[in-house]
Amino acid sequence: MSVARDLNPFRFSGPLPPEEMIDRDPEADDLLALAQGGHSFRLVGPRRYGKTTLLRRVLASAEQQGMATVLVDLQDVLSIAEIVVRIERGYERLKGPVRSRVENLFRTWNIGLSLGGGGFTATLQRNPNVDAESVLLRLLELPVALFDRDGTPSLVAFDEIQDVLAVTGADGKIRSVIQHQTHAATYAFAGSAPGVMQQLFADPKRPLLDQAVPRNLAPLPLDAVGDYVSSRFGQSGRDTGSALAPLLEFTRGHPQRSMMLAHYLWARTPRGAAADEGAWVSALDQAAIDAGPLMRAIWRALTANERRVARALAVVSTPLYSEDTATVVGIKRSSIGKALESLVDNADVIHDEDRPRLTDPMFEHWLQAQGLTPAGGEDDDG
Ligand SMILES: Nc1ncnc2c1ncn2[C@@H]1O[C@H](COP(=O)(O)OP(=O)(O)O)[C@@H](O)[C@H]1O
Ligand SMILES: [Mg+2]
Repeated sequence: MSVARDLNPFRFSGPLPPEEMIDRDPEADDLLALAQGGHSFRLVGPRRYGKTTLLRRVLASAEQQGMATVLVDLQDVLSIAEIVVRIERGYERLKGPVRSRVENLFRTWNIGLSLGGGGFTATLQRNPNVDAESVLLRLLELPVALFDRDGTPSLVAFDEIQDVLAVTGADGKIRSVIQHQTHAATYAFAGSAPGVMQQLFADPKRPLLDQAVPRNLAPLPLDAVGDYVSSRFGQSGRDTGSALAPLLEFTRGHPQRSMMLAHYLWARTPRGAAADEGAWVSALDQAAIDAGPLMRAIWRALTANERRVARALAVVSTPLYSEDTATVVGIKRSSIGKALESLVDNADVIHDEDRPRLTDPMFEHWLQAQGLTPAGGEDDDG
């Protein structure tokens, strides 16, 4: 089957299974050691940098070490009831005896939670007035119930944790329960917006969790990306040829963009052939066309001054804080710092050897293609 089919080996959406990952070995070892030592941690990295992929790998290893592992996706949650549903769903990954214990506990509690079946969603449909808040508080105690039973510790990961801030008071409720669970549970938090993560964890009055060890996710090492791309081309009867160097230079270790461009390049390389620079240019052109709508959405989500600074970073060659740059993109020199800071807070900009740089090479490319005076005006919202 796999012999006969010629399938593109580069996946660029959704978390990857551990065996398909490029590197991240040191990160995975580090985070696993923290978890096993009972140290909660927070992992911060831009969108599409592989946070969920890495979390899943760490959870899989922790599971092998006997921990109960839970992965809660909080992306875009809007209510306490929805948080309950997400946490309940986070336990779905459990297998074997620990899963049965959770099922039994849910049954005993009799508050509308269950694994499989309709779960709390079905409960809400039957009774929209159910007190979701007390269910949440109970559900957050689950690691303690598991631990008291037979000493099984839990590793509970909250992915896209910054999104809880959309639900008034939710962070406080979570904090009030989990801060007392030192022996029963270790917590992992992942988030894409450094600014909000800072707010959530470094506010001395009410940190989400005291002493969650901070970790930043860096780009992938270029040699690891290069080896991976070459070997997957090789395994499918292709050669990266002279296209590899420009691909690595363009994607500069951005995990998802590396995989995406490799995917497009592979698709333009016939079996038995080597890719060349023409194939690279055509892969990039097609990727840019396909990413166009997303690029426009990213652009529209920025404030006017953030757009100006983003454009300056992508297009202008004079120093960022100079009067020349300010004039060219139409911003007051004194406003550059603040706009840059908010781009950094959202991980739209990262520091690359102390130099601010747009995180997403596709976005940079899109801005460069537009130049300083995009056709059709700044806001083609029509
Ligand atoms: N270690 C990795 N090796 C290869 N590709 C990766 C890696 N991490 C992330 N990616 C790429 O990025 C995409 C998004 O990964 P994901 O874990 O969902 O990122 P995040 O959770 O940070 O948004 C994946 O589909 C994959 O293409
Ligand atoms: Mg993710």
